[in-house]
Amino acid sequence: MARAHQQFVCESCGAVQPRWMGKCPDCGEWNSLVEQVVENSAPDLHRPAPPIEDAAPVPLREIQLDTTARWNTGLSEFDRVLGGGIVPGSAVLLGGDPGIGKSTLLLQVGHALASAGRSVVYVTSEESLGQTRMRATRLRADQSDVVVMAQANLDVIMNQVRKRNPDVVIVDSIQMVYRPDLPSAPGSATQLRDAGTRLVWLAKQMGFALLLVGHVTKEGAIAGPKILEHVVDCVAYFEGDRYQTHRIVRAVKNRYGSTEELGIFEMTDAGLQPVRDPATLFLDGAAPRRQPGSAILAAAEGTRVLLVEVQALCVQSVFGAAKRKTTGVDAARVAMILAVVEKHARVVLGDQDVFVNIVGGVRVAEPAADLAIALAVVGAMQRRALPAGCAIFGELGLGGEVRAVSQSRQRIAEAQRVGLTRIVLPARTALDSGSESSLVRCGHLGEAIAQLRDL
Ligand code: TYD
Ligand code: MG
Repeated sequence: MARAHQQFVCESCGAVQPRWMGKCPDCGEWNSLVEQVVENSAPDLHRPAPPIEDAAPVPLREIQLDTTARWNTGLSEFDRVLGGGIVPGSAVLLGGDPGIGKSTLLLQVGHALASAGRSVVYVTSEESLGQTRMRATRLRADQSDVVVMAQANLDVIMNQVRKRNPDVVIVDSIQMVYRPDLPSAPGSATQLRDAGTRLVWLAKQMGFALLLVGHVTKEGAIAGPKILEHVVDCVAYFEGDRYQTHRIVRAVKNRYGSTEELGIFEMTDAGLQPVRDPATLFLDGAAPRRQPGSAILAAAEGTRVLLVEVQALCVQSVFGAAKRKTTGVDAARVAMILAVVEKHARVVLGDQDVFVNIVGGVRVAEPAADLAIALAVVGAMQRRALPAGCAIFGELGLGGEVRAVSQSRQRIAEAQRVGLTRIVLPARTALDSGSESSLVRCGHLGEAIAQLRDL
């Protein structure tokens, strides 16, 4: 009889370590390693055997491409995130905080696909059939052809899927699905990886589209589902918080499309509805209101321009070290912008607590936000509001220079369309024509501040 040996698995990222450690060396999480006993004679539980039929290699040029095969999910904003609809045979992982709308979104998608003639199996592993039916009633989907199964046992789920041969399988949530013959507990890293990998292989083998729900368990990172990120084709997650009526879905990985596009929805009493004109969704009346510390940024998210309000607040710090807090922007980027402001706009921030916030729960990651953030901070310090109707974009260099960014034409057009009449932008932005009169071109941060003061 083979000897059993011990190993330790990280509950957060799934990495396997030969001995216990306080901190996982792979993901940096503390106290996340749990002991696991592995029978040497048992099949390797971490690598379930892949299907071995059709193993012969094929010449590249003979591989058939079916580019038409994308199914609309019934929600244009979700199609946008996926890159134009769902690809049969692909696996999508949808993450998000509890209560943000994952079950709602996937039940709507399942209903839409079923209404379009696809066979859809919806596996609920954490709710009862009755609860799913109640949600369907709210969504006006209770007469749907979606087949629902309240089941958490992976073997039963896979048997049913093989028997029914559906076009689409939805598993809500994958963290609750388990195999009883595995030694580790349901919800553990081993169970999650095993269930996810087996379902993805089955999807590839049988050709159905697989949609998995994964809960975000800790501080923003997809803690549990992270283990599955490399197994699936597309990972999308809900951003922001559930106290807003709108919901944002962003792809962080997509083998079949861009990861730049945002899906923007509104949560209504009949489920999630795509927001028709999201350009000004996050402005919330900021345009007419002039307030020191507020600046409107023309942000490009994928192919779409969003106008968002950047707010900064500076207060005298009480204890030695000044605090810097950010929401919706990268803290390290803001630290750099503050250094540039200190050095090149001669604004002393060393004794100030600085708070920077993007209003409305949207995240902005592009450097084109730099100038708007800097001008908001300067305005907050000097207690001076920006001139009315300004939209700002531009990247800051460490020398205080304002660098040109992509999609300038679209940013200007969209800002003007929603009634912002002054555009503060990098001096070296190349534009073919148009009214230069509304443009405030700046080559340097100091120049931007001086020009805006004179307006
Ligand atoms: P849910 O989809 O169950 O969230 P998750 O699966 O991510 O945990 O529900 C999200 C919230 O949306 C819940 O608080 C109820 C609300 N909701 C609506 O406002 N309208 C609706 O039509 C539905 C179905 C839910
Ligand atoms: Mg749910």
